[in-house]
Amino acid sequence: MDRKVVIQLDDVRRDFEVGGKTVHALRGVSFKIYEGEFVTIMGKSGSGKSTLLNQLGCLDTPTSGEYYLDGVSVRQMSRSERAVLRNRKIGFIFQNYNLLPKTTSIENVELPLMYNPNVGAQERFDRAVAALKAVGLGERLYHKSNQMSGGQQQRVAIARALVNDPAVILADEATGNLDTRTSFEILVLFQKLHAEGRTIIFVTHNPNIAHYASRNIELRDGHIISDEVNDNILSAEEGLAAIPADTDE
Ligand SMILES: Nc1ncnc2c1ncn2[C@@H]1O[C@H](COP(=O)(O)OP(=O)(O)O)[C@@H](O)[C@H]1O
Ligand SMILES: [Mg+2]
Repeated sequence: MDRKVVIQLDDVRRDFEVGGKTVHALRGVSFKIYEGEFVTIMGKSGSGKSTLLNQLGCLDTPTSGEYYLDGVSVRQMSRSERAVLRNRKIGFIFQNYNLLPKTTSIENVELPLMYNPNVGAQERFDRAVAALKAVGLGERLYHKSNQMSGGQQQRVAIARALVNDPAVILADEATGNLDTRTSFEILVLFQKLHAEGRTIIFVTHNPNIAHYASRNIELRDGHIISDEVNDNILSAEEGLAAIPADTDE
């Protein structure tokens, strides 16, 4: 199959100098991520997940090695070029949502489009509404972030990640702050995005998430120790149905 390569890492290393010593956070990481994959990156604390995510998210550059995002080499870019690339090509979803406080769903979701001179006010609004509807928040367009539950806030964050139609969605412990039921609801949404052909990279220390993704990469001490396709993807919808109904919500 000639699937499109969205991300390619070639022997990426990242060293940090701390107190005269060198910490090897990434010790030569190589992989390709293809369009439409839902990949978990797992590993214990200190294994290099955040360092890798910062590379993938164009927030940091490798000490050596190459990173191609959607065919573009990131290594030689300036800081401002990387910022533009990041805004256009990557949708970020964080554990703590990172929404603007006391700001409506629409305004939060419109934000990434503010930096895009090709998108006018009406189109920005229309795209934000469409993204919010796609995550099931069509009835919460004008709610402020502090008026919503954690699960709803994470949906807003997912809509914000989608609104630029990014090449890849990067999630960092995106269900880490949520209770079991709400985590499954968010996983259902990730599986829906996967089914629609989105490319997703989900970094987590929680091995259960791997069952719902199409491929799992595991890090240890800055190395990849396994990289496997998941032939038995579990349904988050079924997982959700199996949880006893909550008293609240
Ligand atoms: N900015 C930094 N300066 C120095 N050492 C760092 C820095 N970031 C990460 N490290 C070190 O790199 C290793 C990997 O860290 P990290 O990527 O945060 O792992 P994880 O996210 O899997 O917990 C750890 O030993 C950590 O102490
Ligand atoms: Mg980390």
